[in-house]
Amino acid sequence: MILDGKQLSLKIRKQVKEKTLKLIEQYNKKPHLVVILIGENPASQSYVRSKERACIKAGFESTIIKKDVDITESELIDIIENLNNDDNVHGILLQLPIPKHIDEDKVLNLINPSKDVDGFHNINIAKLNKGQEALVPCTPLGITKILEEYSIDPTGKHCVIIGRSQIVGKPMAALMLKRNSTVTICHSKTRDIRDITKQADILIVAIGRAHMVDETFVKPGAVVIDVGINRVDGVLVGDVDFDKVKDIAEYITPVPGGVGPMTIACLLENTLTCYEAIEGKNND
Ligand code: GUN
Repeated sequence: MILDGKQLSLKIRKQVKEKTLKLIEQYNKKPHLVVILIGENPASQSYVRSKERACIKAGFESTIIKKDVDITESELIDIIENLNNDDNVHGILLQLPIPKHIDEDKVLNLINPSKDVDGFHNINIAKLNKGQEALVPCTPLGITKILEEYSIDPTGKHCVIIGRSQIVGKPMAALMLKRNSTVTICHSKTRDIRDITKQADILIVAIGRAHMVDETFVKPGAVVIDVGINRVDGVLVGDVDFDKVKDIAEYITPVPGGVGPMTIACLLENTLTCYEAIEGKNND
């Protein structure tokens, strides 16, 4: 069965829009997401455009701050600090990757954790890992919502994640652990990877290599979640070879139309969460 992330994302975006319209009446102010985009990376430009379109459709205010690749770290820090102090900004997103001469970890940790819609601040990472209420990275959050929508209960299941990134693999592990899965993370140095992935009841692939996972990685009846977005000869393909895996998996996400649209829906939700928390406090 195909897990339709596109359909679910539209449902969530409709809910966000309805809630937004009500809250705007209460607070006389729109939720406002600011995205900082550095350089001319075509994939980043395309993601940022999609984020902006989604914000506007949801009734949010959206600002994109575009900067050249030669921006200095201190200029970027000034921008972040101004946004932190701006009462009309509820969410701040620094589009990654950023140029190597800027210390990514340092600048991400200068974003006000209450406006950290990506959930990349150390405070939000620590809260997530402790199982506390936190702003959670959008892609792994979106995956948990797909599982919930299709009543796939992670409890007691073996969840194998391929990829150990800060954006997907690590927060995904924390979320699945919180949902009582037994979690294994595999990565580029893992030996005999198929021996491990073949044990997975839920296999989440976020490695960034087109069609790396074929039927030899998958246990019959597994749930397969494909986080990959790779452009091959102008066509978007996942990290999973969908045609080879679809008949042995019980559930599988397509690319496009699986995890990708959920990331944007969750970004809207996180922005609305920040807005409600900030405006709720201001209007106490
Ligand atoms: N680049 C690729 N994915 C992401 C994401 O989820 N957030 C940010 N900020 N940059 C990204």
